[in-house]
Amino acid sequence: MEEKTIDETRQGEYLMLDAEVNSNKKQRKLLLESYGCQMNFSDSEIVASILAKEGFSTTRDPEEADVVLLNTCAIRDNAEQRIRGRLDYLSSVKKRKPDMQIGVLGCMAERLREKLLDEEKLVDMVVGPDAYRDLPNLIDKVDEGQKAVNVLLSREETYAEITPVRLNSNGITAFISIMRGCDNMCSFCVVPFTRGRERSRDPQTIVNEARDLFNQGYREVTLLGQNVDSYKWNINNKGEILDSTKPTVNFAQLLEMVALVSSDLRIRYSTSHPKDMTDEVLHIMAKYENICKYIHLPVQSGNSDVLKRMNRGYTREWYLERIDAIRRIMPNCAISTDVITGFCGETEEEHQDTLSLMEKVRYEMAFMFKYSERPKTLAERKFEDDIPDEVKGRRLQEVIALQMQGAAQRTKQHVGKVQRILIEGTSKKSEEHLQGRNSQNIVVVFPKTMDCAPGDYADVLANDCTSVTLIGELINVYPRNIEPVKSL
Ligand code: 5AD
Ligand code: SF4
Repeated sequence: MEEKTIDETRQGEYLMLDAEVNSNKKQRKLLLESYGCQMNFSDSEIVASILAKEGFSTTRDPEEADVVLLNTCAIRDNAEQRIRGRLDYLSSVKKRKPDMQIGVLGCMAERLREKLLDEEKLVDMVVGPDAYRDLPNLIDKVDEGQKAVNVLLSREETYAEITPVRLNSNGITAFISIMRGCDNMCSFCVVPFTRGRERSRDPQTIVNEARDLFNQGYREVTLLGQNVDSYKWNINNKGEILDSTKPTVNFAQLLEMVALVSSDLRIRYSTSHPKDMTDEVLHIMAKYENICKYIHLPVQSGNSDVLKRMNRGYTREWYLERIDAIRRIMPNCAISTDVITGFCGETEEEHQDTLSLMEKVRYEMAFMFKYSERPKTLAERKFEDDIPDEVKGRRLQEVIALQMQGAAQRTKQHVGKVQRILIEGTSKKSEEHLQGRNSQNIVVVFPKTMDCAPGDYADVLANDCTSVTLIGELINVYPRNIEPVKSL
């Protein structure tokens, strides 16, 4: 049970999304649902943009939809099972409305390919993460009575110049995708197979997107990539410069370029890889107040032998040294992580090492999972998935219990202190309360005792907390400055 709750925080309930129509072509209705990681939600905004140009408007109701697209996740078996459940339901709708097209996009499409058409007889379209520009064609193909598949992975596609349609947006925070794919080959992970080779997006298009968002009133962007630390522009994998007449850009430099868009624009990013996280990035974070002091640094396991089997490319000692570097350079930085319990061959002692590492680091936040064997991965080919499910589950419970203690202690440290927050909207629990997040990504809730609105920065004195939320009183408001910024 517990795992599911935490899993869902990360994976997100599917969301029905609203896209704007910007064309007067043939009017059709699209239902677009996203599952999985932030990257998938960001990709859906690209899909919405491509289809808005084709005259699609959106609906939340399958009964009304001409085309239903599920942007799927394949990271663990339970993610796929949820999507299969949804496909079963949509199939029952399609029996009554045979003209409705159903398409599977994203990682599950890439993993299962044509199998999805054969197994789920009612799926019309299978589209991998690098093939979204082909969607209008594929929809036409299905209109003509054919099944449509495009699961080609690309070494270049970054959808660099497509302006995403912001879906389910609060108008304050947005994602910007900076790279696609992953070259790491962690042995448990299906992502390198479903999202293909790593490639970085033109930095100028990233800065332009951040500036446009700022000028529309957004005040926080999260730069997304599977492994942001290996972002590189105009440099190949061997470190050679591709075009000597142009500048090269690494992740630290990109962070700085985005931070310079405006000091009123907050920057977050995810995900870092411990083997690649440089001090240069940490120094840039320390230098700019608008780069939030929060790092997601997945450890996966606290034992060096398990890390070796996972092919993570670092040891426990290396990881702890990186944590020391963060604390040294930014003493106020929050750290979160991902942990997998019950990986192939994990002994009780190795599991204890994960617990002791968590005790040492005391993460603000953690996403914790039982190992789920994925077809085609290195681990599936090389190791036996030999830890019984009950043992994986029990270890997961131990990890969760320890994490909850650690997080509560971390949250408490902020009580009695003034928090600079960006107001994002009303609190989930009460209309009279607003909420925002501090730099460390902790949610801060407070009664609206002064004139203020989403998009304003504010100082809130935290005088109480739950295990993960601060509760406080408004001290000061810094109204949103709506002066647009120009390119440098
Ligand atoms: N089983 C369990 N968890 C996994 N993750 C990735 N692959 C698997 C798997 N096969 C977790 C890792 C990763 C996060 C996104 O999902 O912790 O960091
Ligand atoms: Fe998967 Fe590892 Fe790449 Fe993350 S870094 S996407 S866990 S292969």
